[in-house]
Amino acid sequence: MPTAVSTLFDVDRLRAEAPVDHIEFHSVHPSTNDRALELAKSDALAVPALVLTESQTAGRGRGTNRWWSSPGALMFSLIVEPESLSLAQDVWPRISLTAAVAVCEQLRRWAPGVSCGLRWPNDVFFAGKKLCGILIEIPTATADGRRRLVLGMGLNVNNSFRDAPDEQRRVATSLADETSRMWDLTECLLDVLTQLHVTWPLLADRSTQLHERWQSLCLLTGRTVRLQLGGREVLGRVRQIDHDGALVIDTPDGTERFFGGVLKLVEDD
Ligand code: BTN
Repeated sequence: MPTAVSTLFDVDRLRAEAPVDHIEFHSVHPSTNDRALELAKSDALAVPALVLTESQTAGRGRGTNRWWSSPGALMFSLIVEPESLSLAQDVWPRISLTAAVAVCEQLRRWAPGVSCGLRWPNDVFFAGKKLCGILIEIPTATADGRRRLVLGMGLNVNNSFRDAPDEQRRVATSLADETSRMWDLTECLLDVLTQLHVTWPLLADRSTQLHERWQSLCLLTGRTVRLQLGGREVLGRVRQIDHDGALVIDTPDGTERFFGGVLKLVEDD
């Protein structure tokens, strides 16, 4: 595949310094997750592998959501092999939460004065608005049976929401908007990839440090939420995110643990 030239990223530097074994760069692509799901099927692919783009035309969010980002956002998909990161299958559901913790910690380094937290399962909020979304998908196994994961991330860095329509500006923000400066995207991507790289071992070791971090970063504790789970709707008050990454909710039927579902704050209704 011919290598496109980037105006926003120093791809040579990424190839030299990023903690990945393969990088595919596109100036524009419909969706880096779609491309990563395709690439991940190949036995020959060296992993971790990164698919990076400057612009996406059909970015996907969780469920049926679309993901729109203007240039200046970080949009990438990382292909990882959980087994080579020593991530046993029972911790896979915690990978997205772990990635969200890694992003929060990096944001705290970039902008120590700005509040940062996570909205279960894996949205990263900055100054009270969404800054980063994560989409984990499982590709078909390779011909020789290796299982991989695709971790797609959209992180608003230099793409400003200041001139965006009201309904977007109310709910989304970027690093540039909150810090009133522009950021070096190559540097930012290297920081995030490095932070992910140093955080996986905590998950592999089932470190209590990691559980404590996602509990303390949880923005939903004490809030009333509505959780849609297939045909069932649950209304209740969030206690915490537990050690397994489940959201613990006090419901009219008692305390229950949830591993999925579409969540809404009741105040958002
Ligand atoms: C969400 O918040 O719903 C998840 C958003 C994930 C968006 C990223 S952008 C890079 C990667 N490619 C996609 O098509 N989606 C993810």
